[in-house]
Amino acid sequence: MQAASNIFQNHLGRLDTVVNPESKSAPDGAKMKALAWFGNNDVRVIDAPVPDITEPDDVIVRVTGSTICGSDLHLYHGEIMTMQKGDILGHEFMGIVDKVGPNVTNIKPGQRVVASFQIACGDCKFCKQKLSSFCDRTNTSTLQKEMYGQVDAGFFGYSHFTGGYAGGQAEFVRVPKGNVNLLPIPKGVPDEKALFLSDILPTSYHAVVDTGVEKGDVVGVWGLGPIGLYVAKWAQLKGASRVIGIDAVPERLAFAESKLGIETINFKQEKDVAKKILELVPSGLDTAIDCGSFHEPKSLLHKAQKLAMLETDSPETINEMIYAVRKRGKCGIIAAYAGYANGVNVGALMEKGVRLIGNGQAPVHLYWEEILNDYIIPGKFDPTFVLTHRVPLEDMDKLYAAFDKRQAGVEKVFVQTKFSSEPSPGCPKLTRVAEWGAKN
Ligand SMILES: NC(=O)c1ccc[n+]([C@@H]2O[C@H](COP(=O)([O-])OP(=O)(O)OC[C@H]3O[C@@H](n4cnc5c(N)ncnc54)[C@H](O)[C@@H]3O)[C@@H](O)[C@H]2O)c1
Ligand SMILES: [Zn+2]
Ligand SMILES: [Zn+2]
Repeated sequence: MQAASNIFQNHLGRLDTVVNPESKSAPDGAKMKALAWFGNNDVRVIDAPVPDITEPDDVIVRVTGSTICGSDLHLYHGEIMTMQKGDILGHEFMGIVDKVGPNVTNIKPGQRVVASFQIACGDCKFCKQKLSSFCDRTNTSTLQKEMYGQVDAGFFGYSHFTGGYAGGQAEFVRVPKGNVNLLPIPKGVPDEKALFLSDILPTSYHAVVDTGVEKGDVVGVWGLGPIGLYVAKWAQLKGASRVIGIDAVPERLAFAESKLGIETINFKQEKDVAKKILELVPSGLDTAIDCGSFHEPKSLLHKAQKLAMLETDSPETINEMIYAVRKRGKCGIIAAYAGYANGVNVGALMEKGVRLIGNGQAPVHLYWEEILNDYIIPGKFDPTFVLTHRVPLEDMDKLYAAFDKRQAGVEKVFVQTKFSSEPSPGCPKLTRVAEWGAKN
């Protein structure tokens, strides 16, 4: 799939963008550690050139905190098109400003900052509304335009389908349009509480706000990874009367029950999740949010269709949500999907008047200041409750394999570099992935 999609994309050429995805290398030839993709289930820690200011709006960030995301597993499994050997991955990172280009006026060397996973131009009609993930002018992918009609913003470390920008599982990152894509972090907020402003905090918040969770709602959350856990927490803060989480990883179900006090359903034990929900909530859920992962079809039918490349994605969760919500219920899809799914229950969608909402890639810029100032700083939302492990960047390749297997109860990981501070009080201490036991 990668070879064919790369050939197709090369044939189509590149869309014009206001930023250049390729970076210059530091003139002194300095090298850094970074995690690069080489093939399906094959990622490696390599020595790569340190990037330099390439365009006048660039900032170079010295990374002090990075992580792995459920979205990275789609790349690991080769399910996102146009990956190229040597691509540096990672779209969630923070650090200290190392250098700024001459046009950067609001960010200074030495400042602590977090980057948004998307690279927004700051000027287009979407950026003017802070809908940064929908920016019109930073993604070169003609293939995405061909498949979707329009393109998203460019993203850090997320294939050439989103521009081919080098990512943040590295010691240094070049951040294009640094004036808009970096958020300064005040002194009192430790790295562990700031890092997730890059993606999973705004993403989960967006899923709840955009799908329209209201006071009193009964909410179903499919998938209890970091996104699902945060979605459940935001739903509670927005006044949900009941939250039901669905997953099959025993540690994740137990984690959600103990940390958030929500009800759970194990989809390996309950073969018909939607019917089980209707037993628990006979009139149906008010809101359902898909925080799962499309690379794990449950039924033989969809496993076979995926294998035969008759579909790229499975519709199972979408169908369960449509079935389990009340008439006029709301279903949001924040989980990433790539292409086509067969057998969507369009009859139930239509007849029940279900609002099925593609939440899109989350517009981080719309929410990150609000989340920092109104929730993290006053202590209303402590993002570290999902943090289970801390590992060094040198272990990043092993982390992909362990995270994929959800080994050792892993939820979210803080990945440190040689520039990181000591772990903050109450946060996980450094471990090596090779030493993780089943229950580390
Ligand atoms: N839209 C955005 O802006 C955005 C941003 C970040 C992540 N994402 C996506 O959100 C999703 C969740 O991210 P994460 O980091 O929590 O991922 P994760 O892989 O850690 O967690 C996904 C969870 O879903 C569960 N799951 C899989 N199939 C399921 C099913 N059929 N029913 C119920 N649960 C199921 C898995 O067991 C797993 O625990 C991923 O698809 C990711 O790509 C979207
Ligand atoms: Zn992510
Ligand atoms: Zn824009």
